[in-house]
Amino acid sequence: MADYETILVEQRGRVGWITLNRPEALNALNGQVSQEVAAAASAFDSDESIGAIVVTGSEKAFAAGADIKEMESKTGAEMLDTDHFGAWTRFAAVRTPVIAAVAGYALGGGCELAMMCDIILAADSATFGQPEINLGVIPGMGGTQRLIRAVGYYKAAELVLSGRLIKADEAERIGLVSRVVPASDLLDEATKLSETIASKSLPSLYAAKATLDAAMETTLEAGLTVEKRAFAALFDTADQKEGMAAFREKRPLTSSTG
Ligand code: CAA
Repeated sequence: MADYETILVEQRGRVGWITLNRPEALNALNGQVSQEVAAAASAFDSDESIGAIVVTGSEKAFAAGADIKEMESKTGAEMLDTDHFGAWTRFAAVRTPVIAAVAGYALGGGCELAMMCDIILAADSATFGQPEINLGVIPGMGGTQRLIRAVGYYKAAELVLSGRLIKADEAERIGLVSRVVPASDLLDEATKLSETIASKSLPSLYAAKATLDAAMETTLEAGLTVEKRAFAALFDTADQKEGMAAFREKRPLTSSTG
């Protein structure tokens, strides 16, 4: 496994774990973090022994945002020319299902990183928000776009325009978080969920994620076409034949990958 300085990377069974590890800066997402997370996720993504990825932080902070100190002196041209947050596009594009296991602060870019994942599990200690308005900027890692798709225009607008932070229970109520668990159970719950997902057939997982992603980006009609094609393509896989035979024979599917 490559050497990383700002993250810890580990394969546990069929699950790839990425732990943000800049405790001195509450896991603020600087350029190095973004490059390392994107590289680690891409490496897991190209490894067929991996069926799910978990991204997590510390008890105090999933991530307190993009690194303000790194950005402070930049000009607009520099932000654009260097595509300051470009590595995150590579992270968001992985085909493997990704779970964010969030405890503590998930603010600004931290909340946006969680929203690049497919499922957000939150500890009851988690705090979410897009406080960029207090810094004289706006969310820059997808927050304005993904938050609306997650919680609807009016909730997203309130959070982005006011910078108000919300606790895990409110995040669950508005649909940002899939489940809230006691902080002490977060990693166990993330382990259970990721292992369940990773045990499934890899072609089905890739197809399910790609098809769900399409729904975020396209019209209903176009999305239904994407689904129709992906569904049909799975009928040319060994796992579909095995999965349906397993149902008929009243036994669980033995996936070729899981
Ligand atoms: N960038 C850089 N450093 C950060 C940081 C960030 N986003 N968040 C925290 N840190 C650093 C602090 O500067 C501090 O370092 P020093 O000890 O060297 O001063 C260290 O982490 C610990 O932080 P605090 O002392 O502030 O800890 P706290 O418990 O008192 O407060 C907090 C915690 C409320 C999360 C507070 O740190 C905070 O408000 N952080 C910034 C949150 C924020 O505005 N995030 C949005 C960033 S911009 C963005 O993300 C743009 C985008 O859309 C991509």
